[in-house]
Amino acid sequence: MGGAYYVGELHHSRAGYGLIADADGGRAVNSDAPEIAISSDVLRKWQRIVDLLANIMHVPSAVVCKIEPPDYTHYTVISSSNSTGNPFPVDQIFSMDIGTFCETVIKSREPLLVANGLENDQWKSAPEMRVGMVSYLGFPVFWPDGRVFGTICVLDNKTNRYSDMYQELLSHCRDVLQGDLQTLARLGSELEEQKAHLSELFARVPEAIVLADRDCRIVRVNPEFTKIFGYTAEEAIGRRLQDLIAPDELQEEVESVMYRMVPTGGVFAVETVRRHKNGMPVPVSLLCVPVSSLGSGDTGYVIYRDMTETKRLQDEQRRYQEIQLELAHANRIATIGQLSASITHELNQPLTGILTNCSTGLRMLTDDSPNLDGAREAIRRTMRDANRASEVILRLRTLYSKREVTAELVDLNETTREVIALSLGELQKGQVIVRTEFADDLPLVIGDRVQLQQVVLNLLLNALDAMIGVNDRPRQLVVKTHRQEGDCVGVSVQDSGVGFEPHTVDKLFEAFYTTKQDGMGMGLSVSRSIIESHHGRLWAVPHDGAGATFSFSIPCRTNTNIQ
Ligand SMILES: Nc1ncnc2c1ncn2[C@@H]1O[C@H](COP(=O)(O)OP(=O)(O)OP(=O)(O)O)[C@@H](O)[C@H]1O
Ligand SMILES: [Mg+2]
Repeated sequence: MGGAYYVGELHHSRAGYGLIADADGGRAVNSDAPEIAISSDVLRKWQRIVDLLANIMHVPSAVVCKIEPPDYTHYTVISSSNSTGNPFPVDQIFSMDIGTFCETVIKSREPLLVANGLENDQWKSAPEMRVGMVSYLGFPVFWPDGRVFGTICVLDNKTNRYSDMYQELLSHCRDVLQGDLQTLARLGSELEEQKAHLSELFARVPEAIVLADRDCRIVRVNPEFTKIFGYTAEEAIGRRLQDLIAPDELQEEVESVMYRMVPTGGVFAVETVRRHKNGMPVPVSLLCVPVSSLGSGDTGYVIYRDMTETKRLQDEQRRYQEIQLELAHANRIATIGQLSASITHELNQPLTGILTNCSTGLRMLTDDSPNLDGAREAIRRTMRDANRASEVILRLRTLYSKREVTAELVDLNETTREVIALSLGELQKGQVIVRTEFADDLPLVIGDRVQLQQVVLNLLLNALDAMIGVNDRPRQLVVKTHRQEGDCVGVSVQDSGVGFEPHTVDKLFEAFYTTKQDGMGMGLSVSRSIIESHHGRLWAVPHDGAGATFSFSIPCRTNTNIQ
C-alpha cells in the first residue's frame, strides 16, 4: 500500500523502515492522547541533526515536521536546516489537504522517496515544486504508542536518488528522533501520573488549599475551599485573598502573612480567623507553603484547616470543667457546713488555751513578786495556741476557696488524718467509734490535695449519716489506707450503718440522687468525678451484715494531667 507513493528506489531492508509503523498501515493518523510538549533541549538537538543532514547530504533543506493536534488538519515545520536555499522556515504551517510529500508520508505512515517530482505526473504539481524542491526523501516519525508524530525529510532542488547510505543515515536520524519521543512520552506519562495524584490529593484533602500568586491573588482552589469559605472556584480565582476571606479587622494580617511567604521561603503556620462568604468568622489553622519552583509569578500554597469543630469541642470541654469545678466547690461548701460542730470545737480549743494562758501570764506579772519565767512560758503557750487556731483557719480557707485544680505530691495518710481531725467533733457528737488502719509504706500520689480531702470528707459524712439512726449496734467507722495491686493507693471507709440494696449501687453515684431530707445528692457524684480525674476508681460494697464500705483507689504514678 505504502509502496504506491514511492517514486524511485527505496531499500526497506537496509534502512529498517517500518520500525514502529503499523503492519496494517490503516490506523487513524492520531488518537486523542494528551499532547506532550517537545522541550527546547530536544529541539536544539534536532536542529543540530537537520543541519548535519543538509550538510552531509549536500541538500538545501532538511526538515522535521510535526502534525498538529487536536484536529490534525495541518502540520508545522519544527526544525529546519540553516542551509542556503532552504525555503522552509521553522513554524511554517502546511495544510493536510494540499498534497505535499510530507502529507503523503504522514497519511501513508510509510517512507517516501521521490527522485524528481517534475518527471512524475503524480508529483509535478506538488506544492514543493513551486519553491524549487523537486526531490524528496522522507520518513514518518512515530510516538512510542504508534501514533504518527510527523516526518523527517530532506529535499533537493535537483534530481537526487539518495544513496543507500543517505537513506540509512536519514532512517537512523529518524530512530534518534523516535528515541527522544520515547523519553518524552515516558517523562510525560510520569508527569501525568504525578499530576493525577496531585489532583486527587487536591480534591480529596480535608483542608482548603489555595494557590496564590505574588499579589495574593487566588490562582487555584480545591473543593474544600468552597466548603469552608462558601466561594466557588469561579468566584474565588483572580480575587485577592485579603479581599475575599479576611475579616475587616484582619486585612493587614492576611497581607502580612502572604507577603511573609515571599522573603522567608520557609513553611510557617498561624492560628487565626478568616471570613466565610456569609460573613461568619471561621477559626482556622493556616499553613503557608511558599514554593519557589512554581515560576510564573506564583508564590505558594496556603492550606486552611477549619478549626470550628475543634474550637467548639474545646469550649465545651472548658465549660464542662468549669461546671465540675463549680459543683465540687458547692459540694465542699455544703459539706464543710455540716462540720460546724467540729470547726467550733477545733477553734474553741486553742482559743480557750489562749485565754487561760493570757490570764495566767497576767497574774504572774502582776503578783507582788512577779514570776517572769512563768509568764514567759504562758506567753509561749499563748503563741502556740494562736498558731494552732490560725492553722485551722488556713485549712478551712483552702477548703472554702474556689480554686484551680493543682497537681502536687499528696500523702493520703496525712490527708485522711486531717479530714478525720476536722470531722472529729461531728463524729463524737454522733457517738461514732472511729478506728484507723493506715498502711505504713504508703507511696505518695500526684493529685489535688484539697479535692482528695473533699472525697474522704464526703465518704465520712455519708458514713456518719448512715449510722445516725442506728441504735441497736455500735456505730463503728473504720478508715483504712492501703497499697493495692498495680501500683495503686487506696482509701476505704467502712461503716455499720443502714447499708444499701446491692441493685441500687449505680444510683448512689448519680447526681442529685439522695435518700436524705436535707441531702443534695451531689457528694458521691462529685467524688467520683474527682477520683476519675485522678485516673482512679470509686466504688461501694454493701456488707452482708450491717453497713457498707466505700473505697477509692488511684494510681501512685498518676500523671499530672488532672482536670
Ligand atoms: N455509707 C453509706 N451507706 C448507705 N447509703 C449511702 C452511704 N453513702 C451514700 N449513701 C446513699 O447514697 C446517696 C447519695 O449520696 P451522696 O453523698 O451523693 O448524696 P447525699 O449524701 O444524699 O447528699 P450530699 O452529699 O449532696 O449532701 C445517699 O443519699 C444515700 O442514700
Ligand atoms: Mg453525701
